[in-house]
Amino acid sequence: MSTSSSHEAWGTRIGLILAMAGNAVGLGNFLRFPRQAAVNGGGSFMITYFIALLLLGIPLMWIEWGVGRNGGRFRKGHIPGMFAAIWKHPAAKYLGIVGMIIPLTVMIYYTYIESWTLAFSFFSITKDYWGNTTQEAMVGYLQSYQGITAGSSHTMALGFFLVTLAINIWVLSRGISGGIEKLARIGMPILFLFAAVLAVVVIFLPPGPNGETAWQGLQFIYNPDFSRLDEPSVWLASAGQIFFTLSVGMGSLQCYASYLSKKDDIALNGIATAATNETAEVVLGGTIAIPAAVVFFGVTGAMAVAQSGSFNLGFATMPVVFQQLPMGNVLGFMWFALLFFAGITSSVAMLTPIVAFFREEFGWKREIIAWSFGVVTLLFGLMNIFWLQYGFLDEWDYWAGTFGLVLLAVIETVLFMWVFKPENAWASIHQGADIQIPRIFKFVMTYVTPVYLLFILIWWGTQDAIPILTNAKAAGGGTLTPEMHPYVTTARLIIVGFAIVFAFLIRIAWKRNNYDDRAGFVEVDQSGRTAV
Ligand code: ALA
Repeated sequence: MSTSSSHEAWGTRIGLILAMAGNAVGLGNFLRFPRQAAVNGGGSFMITYFIALLLLGIPLMWIEWGVGRNGGRFRKGHIPGMFAAIWKHPAAKYLGIVGMIIPLTVMIYYTYIESWTLAFSFFSITKDYWGNTTQEAMVGYLQSYQGITAGSSHTMALGFFLVTLAINIWVLSRGISGGIEKLARIGMPILFLFAAVLAVVVIFLPPGPNGETAWQGLQFIYNPDFSRLDEPSVWLASAGQIFFTLSVGMGSLQCYASYLSKKDDIALNGIATAATNETAEVVLGGTIAIPAAVVFFGVTGAMAVAQSGSFNLGFATMPVVFQQLPMGNVLGFMWFALLFFAGITSSVAMLTPIVAFFREEFGWKREIIAWSFGVVTLLFGLMNIFWLQYGFLDEWDYWAGTFGLVLLAVIETVLFMWVFKPENAWASIHQGADIQIPRIFKFVMTYVTPVYLLFILIWWGTQDAIPILTNAKAAGGGTLTPEMHPYVTTARLIIVGFAIVFAFLIRIAWKRNNYDDRAGFVEVDQSGRTAV
């Protein structure tokens, strides 16, 4: 029996959509997407990207809302409980460990990157980086902030991380409708407004030093290009981007969906969430960083910058551009503030499955869990701060934020579409639905999505996972130097440690609540929930 005293609910439908969209729209849309598009051939990347959206992203969005809401029937907001609700087998709950490790691990490093955006919004408005007018100089400025360059300190990075983390935990401690939904209602409109202003500014930029315009940047992304479609790496990169940007395979969309009742629509809301995310990514995310970089540095220059480091387009190129524009400090502030809002509406989602687990299974208070995990995030966050240059963060980003997402998606798709059966899954998604999903998607979700996922997993396994695991290549690209070995090994051991701890906690939870795996959970009366 569950020991949780009360279950939460979304306040309003618009609040739910904004929160779901906030969960999805994140740093991935504005930082990761332009870089991936630039290094994977622009127009070629976009073709494979839309195929992945159609065959992986949208089907998984519905599957995750379905898995989540089904878990909510039994008051389960965490993946181990959701899996056990679908598959009445003792192993089901342990498969859910992946869905606990991923959001926790990603949350820890994601919040750190998010804190850079908070810092840089201050540095923009105060013109702190003014004078660093080349990309190389700005990369130096960023590295000095990160405490990587000789003689620099971590103090500033640590300070902003603490502030960012405290805001995250405070929002989380206020609950679903009182914290997360409110944040989304404020943050999402600001984010869209700032992004729209910046997109317009970039489009109307006068030709740059070499006569190149934003239009050429847009053409680079949007003109269909078939030349690189034969490269598996382009297909894998686009699939990885779809996962990260939509937050599928992360455990948090499912948790958000668990606060819905069977009367609520998930078919239309699911696609609305995906559509909002794609608008933010392809329309806004695609119109800002790459076209701006192309105006000032040309297509080749923009690609070279993107290639030179994950964050260089956002943290080096954009500040150089802002310094050359009227009211550049305000535009710079808008850029980094929008990144901050995009980031925080995603990061608060990541701890929700953990909060749900301790509330539902151990009866702990939400505030206690939130602040306790704030301390956990701080402790492991320190490793990301101090060991950044040794590939620690990249290692976590690969195993949890890339490979792990596909792994969780494979497990949940097989459980929901095959173990639960396609008819039940389809009926479950359509309960309370405002639209009928085209039937072709039933076929896609049952066969195409799992096969596509397995293909990615196997390909990644051989091309990336094994070489990374054997230290033949670095998770962040390039080669692994001998001095990085102890740090990446520690990064991996910590993930294994998380898995062991969660396995142990799940075992205790099931024992203390006397759950019978073969009998399943008792359905909870949902009549007391707030309708959305
Ligand atoms: N979906 C989130 C992002 O794009 C995690 O950053």
